[in-house]
Amino acid sequence: MAFKPAKWPRKLRSAEWFGGTSRDHIYHRSWMKNQGLPDDLFDGRPVIGICNTWSQLTPCNAHLRDLAERVKHGIYEAGGFPVEFPVFSTGESTLRPTAMMFRNLASMDVEEAIRGTPLDGVVLLVGCDKTTPSLLMGAASVDIPAIVVTGGPMLNGWFQGERVGSGTHLWKFSEAVKAGEMTQEEFLEAEAAMSRSPGSCNTMGTASTMASMAEALGMALSGNAAIPAVDSRRRVMAHLSGRRIVQMVKDDLKPSDILTREAFENAMRTNGAIGGSTNAVIHLLAIAGRVGIDLSLDDWDKAGRDIPTIVNLMPSGKYLMEEFFYAGGLPVVIKRLGEAGMLNKDAITVSGETMWDQVKDVKNWNEDVILPADKALTSQGGIAVLKGNLAPNGAVLKPSAASPHLMQHKGRAVVFEDIDDYKAKINDDALDIDETCVMVLKNCGPKGYPGMSEVGNMGLPPKVLKKGITDMVRISDARMSGTAYGTVVLHTSPEAAAGGPLAVVKDGDMIELDVPNRKIHLDISEEDLAARLADWKPSHHVPESGYARLFHDRVQGADTGADFDFLKGCRGSAVPKDSH
Ligand code: FES
Repeated sequence: MAFKPAKWPRKLRSAEWFGGTSRDHIYHRSWMKNQGLPDDLFDGRPVIGICNTWSQLTPCNAHLRDLAERVKHGIYEAGGFPVEFPVFSTGESTLRPTAMMFRNLASMDVEEAIRGTPLDGVVLLVGCDKTTPSLLMGAASVDIPAIVVTGGPMLNGWFQGERVGSGTHLWKFSEAVKAGEMTQEEFLEAEAAMSRSPGSCNTMGTASTMASMAEALGMALSGNAAIPAVDSRRRVMAHLSGRRIVQMVKDDLKPSDILTREAFENAMRTNGAIGGSTNAVIHLLAIAGRVGIDLSLDDWDKAGRDIPTIVNLMPSGKYLMEEFFYAGGLPVVIKRLGEAGMLNKDAITVSGETMWDQVKDVKNWNEDVILPADKALTSQGGIAVLKGNLAPNGAVLKPSAASPHLMQHKGRAVVFEDIDDYKAKINDDALDIDETCVMVLKNCGPKGYPGMSEVGNMGLPPKVLKKGITDMVRISDARMSGTAYGTVVLHTSPEAAAGGPLAVVKDGDMIELDVPNRKIHLDISEEDLAARLADWKPSHHVPESGYARLFHDRVQGADTGADFDFLKGCRGSAVPKDSH
């Protein structure tokens, strides 16, 4: 249904704080004025929050203060009143045990910071992996007008004359050192070459994927996702987004108007076309849960099944985000989906235009980066959702990052009870394993390793690597970095720590992976499986107290987005009562 803009002028929620002459109104305005703000900023114009995940501990977002200034220019120009505020910044490369453990916490911070303050609209300044979903989740739960501005990817890494992709080459080089193909000194030299400018990971990892998801959902201006962090056009994008949010407030264009089922379908298909990260599955399920859209793993499989991966970027392909931008970026991909009848063209976006109107005239400037359909990296690029007695609620695999020869494979299980068990055994030449085996890792799901660490693409044993083998089937309840690759079955649900069948796999069991038929099967009898499950006792570490305990107790399964049970849904923007 077409969006109808609200009437303007009208009274905004910020008037509850600033729009009167009572003692409380004076109190709210007076303290704000200690920042040197003139009277007319409080005259009923839209008050726009700039929700900033800037932090020096989130290096991917360390340039966002500059972008916030650009956003402010745009807001002032359009007649708004900008106020910048910080929220918890979940830095993927630094935060332990894993940034994912704090996604829900940051979303609570964002939600309450917006609801409790005199904001009429909000600009979400994000970049690093989890910052994008956490801010989208929080803003969706409040549902005031919101627009995403991402920080943009780093410039290409270069080392020894070759492109070096964030994360992707970290895994590659690390395995090359283990296989004796690269020296430790070279690995150290590559360290600085990988990250040579401000910005987020330059591969189609989770950060680039989530920036693309924000754009494909219609929550960012068209073209936002791929502009490099240091390109002057990134500042222009921030400036324009500042201008736009003021009009969105006047029109009352809210996340719930944009985040429709059609928008999620567009995003899931886009994820297939870009060869996006498996992490997008969890994040989109969680965002959908905040706006009451009933999205499921089956929707992911259905939406992505016939989508060719046409974006030739690492980890699935060859190039990096810089080239993607020069080729035309995400609008070209969305246009291609539209031409193929795979786009909900009428989905409304933050610009006020439909998705199709925004992209219909763009051009592809490099067909080696954004490939023609007949040269796609894979014809079935979406997320494959596997089911079977090993994953009754589902597990996921990214076909574009997997090895074609392993997509149908049966092998002997080599089981690691948890990540410590894996680390203790994997380098031991006495480990009974070869390339035909299936590596199984337990207790790394949302509860088992609170936060659900990105260890699903566990490195291969050195004795296998030394044979020149680079991939084996791996199964776990963990996640995998969006920059990683391999025939890796992830997010197995229910997880081992919640008593899922993964918990009772034993060394020597046979496991069958059949991606074309979406099957993951533990080859034991139903009776055997039932008996093992009846005997099962949890063995994972349960945090005693603190946030980790809250996370453990209230996190939901990966198959529904790993949100907290009590955070699902939109709680709205009603202004809390003043207690002064
Ligand atoms: Fe921040 Fe990859 S570690 S975007």
